[in-house]
Amino acid sequence: MIQVKSKQPHVGTTIFTVMSKLATDMGALNLAQGFPSFNCSPELIDLVSFHLKKGHNQYAPMAGVPALKEAIAEKTADLYKVNYHPENEVTVVSGATEALYAAITAVVRPNDEVIVFEPAYDSYAPSVELNGGILVYITLKPPHYQIDWEVVKQKITPQTRLIMLNTPHNPTGKMLSMSDLNYLAEIVRDTNIFIISDEVYEHITFDGRPHISLMMHPTLQERTFICGSFGKTFHITGWKIGYCLAPKDLSVEFRKAHQWITFATSTPMQYALADFLKKPENYLAIPDFYQKKRDKFLSCIQSTRFTYTPAEGSFFQTVSYSGISEENDYDLAIRLTKEIGVASIPVSVFYHQKNDYKILRFCFAKDDGILEQAGERLRKI
Ligand SMILES: Cc1ncc(COP(=O)(O)O)c(C=O)c1O
Repeated sequence: MIQVKSKQPHVGTTIFTVMSKLATDMGALNLAQGFPSFNCSPELIDLVSFHLKKGHNQYAPMAGVPALKEAIAEKTADLYKVNYHPENEVTVVSGATEALYAAITAVVRPNDEVIVFEPAYDSYAPSVELNGGILVYITLKPPHYQIDWEVVKQKITPQTRLIMLNTPHNPTGKMLSMSDLNYLAEIVRDTNIFIISDEVYEHITFDGRPHISLMMHPTLQERTFICGSFGKTFHITGWKIGYCLAPKDLSVEFRKAHQWITFATSTPMQYALADFLKKPENYLAIPDFYQKKRDKFLSCIQSTRFTYTPAEGSFFQTVSYSGISEENDYDLAIRLTKEIGVASIPVSVFYHQKNDYKILRFCFAKDDGILEQAGERLRKI
């Protein structure tokens, strides 16, 4: 029998699969995995159906349907006052996960160092490792998860090729500020370091806080791949449609990777999204929609014994249970699913050494009834 020598020996079943299965088995409320419990706009479904019937069923152009690339470029120019050329600088891909992988593949060679802040979204590390890159972690700690840019400066070496950022941030709900961008710009000036900015939650921001995209800083924009996703914005995580915005030279290399990963992305979905983006209210209404969800969840957990700082963005709220239990976060998340019927994600899984700061992550992209029931159950602790 031929033996497979795993290229990813440390990768097993993810916590998301474990918790979702446990939630289903136990009939628990699933506030673990990050997807909405509600459906997308019926208009969007009608648009897909329209384009399916119209015969938009063959391969899309490699870099995306022109109408969608144009709509993304227009939305970006309106919101952030930055122009990306739809022809050369906007690429539609199969979800932000692909965008991240393609961008990493475009620039990381074996033994290049990649700075990753943790807690980190789980695809970053394996994507770097599969490209032979060396992970250089910087640990951010609760409750503020603040980046110390002096530490970042010290981690830079001649081998540093890439810095990965995520704002608004999963799992912490934190957002970068313009002052963060200024520090970063100073650090990478006169280097050949690229940046990947994962901005899939760009429209999910709270308390009037504007999303600060890396593209808004001109000297960072030149070296940055912005990775976006329609999954989070339009409640269509199952469609897996994302995009990458990057200056022309970066986009050329990005597309070389994209074309060997998936080549092109679902055609009728792209046409439907192009039409849907023509109405800016479809995305401009999202912050308000999710503000209500976050506030609802906070009111539901207000009289529990958990402590928390309200999330600034994303659809996740982290809570500390250090005043409640000594258990590690993994065990507690499992116990809460089994005993009170609420599934969450232990934040230690987002650290490569599984740092346990006694924090759980709840996803509040759920119907109000589910959030209310979760609050009732969490009050029992
Ligand atoms: C921070 C972050 N980046 C990327 C993704 C993946 O996005 P997509 O579903 O478009 O691949 C997720 C999904 O949970 C995420 O939370």
